[in-house]
Amino acid sequence: MRAKVVAGNWKMNNDQAATVALIDALKTKPSKAEVSVKIAPATVHLAQAVEALRDSSIEVMAQNMHAAENGAFTGEVSAQMLKSIGVTTTILGHSERRAYFNETDAALSQKVNTALGHDMEVVFCFGEELEDRQSEKHFEVVKQQLQDGLFHIDAAAWDKIILAYEPVWAIGTGETASPAQAQEMHAFIRQTLSDHYGQPVADKVAILYGGSVKPSNAKEIFSKPDVDGGLIGGASLDADDFFAIVHAI
Ligand code: PGA
Repeated sequence: MRAKVVAGNWKMNNDQAATVALIDALKTKPSKAEVSVKIAPATVHLAQAVEALRDSSIEVMAQNMHAAENGAFTGEVSAQMLKSIGVTTTILGHSERRAYFNETDAALSQKVNTALGHDMEVVFCFGEELEDRQSEKHFEVVKQQLQDGLFHIDAAAWDKIILAYEPVWAIGTGETASPAQAQEMHAFIRQTLSDHYGQPVADKVAILYGGSVKPSNAKEIFSKPDVDGGLIGGASLDADDFFAIVHAI
C-alpha cells in the first residue's frame, strides 16, 4: 500500500500568534489512520511548530531550502539548519518558487541532491502552465520536469520522494483539474516512473494532487486510483477545512 499524504503549504501567511492558534486548532482534530498529515509554516516559525507538535502525529515541513551546505547566501536556509531544529522534510520546486524566484529544474536537481544527502524527505512540485495544456504539451512538460529534476537519482532514493502534481492554472485560482484530468496525469506520471525505474518503484511513490483542493472537491479527486493525497494551499489555513480534506481520503 502506498502512503496517503495530506500536506498543507501555508506559504507566506500567518504571523506568530496566528501560527500558534492554527497549530493549537489542528491538534484538537482527530487523526485518520494511514494518512500522513504534514504542514509547512513559514521558515521563521518552523522551530516553534516542531516544539508545539512534538507529541502529535502532524509533521512539520519546510517550504524551501538552499542547495549549498552553508556560506554566503544571504537570507537562505540550509538542510543542516532545518535538520538541527527537527525538520526532516522540505517542499521543493513549488510553482511560486519557479515563477517568482527563477528556480529551474536544473537548480532543483541540486536541491534534491542536498536534501537526500541529509537524509531528508522531499515533496517535489511540478506541473504545466495553462498555455502548455491549451497547446496540448502538458504531458511533455511534466515528463521533462521529472527527467530534469529527479531522474538522476537512484531507485532507492525514491523512498524519500513524494511527488506533487500541481497544474499552475489551478493553484490559488479556484480552478481545479477535474478528477479525470488529475487521474489521467497521475497515471501518466506513474507510467513515466515505471518506464525509467521499473514498476516496483512507480507503485510505491505517492503522487499528490495540488491546486484549489477544498473540502467540497477533495473526496472525488482522492477517489482516483493514482491520486495518493493532496498538497493544499488556501484550505490548509483553516483547521476545519484542512481536516475535512484529511478525512476525505
Ligand atoms: P491552493 O494552493 O490549494 O491554494 O490552490 C496549492 C499549492 O500551491 O500548493
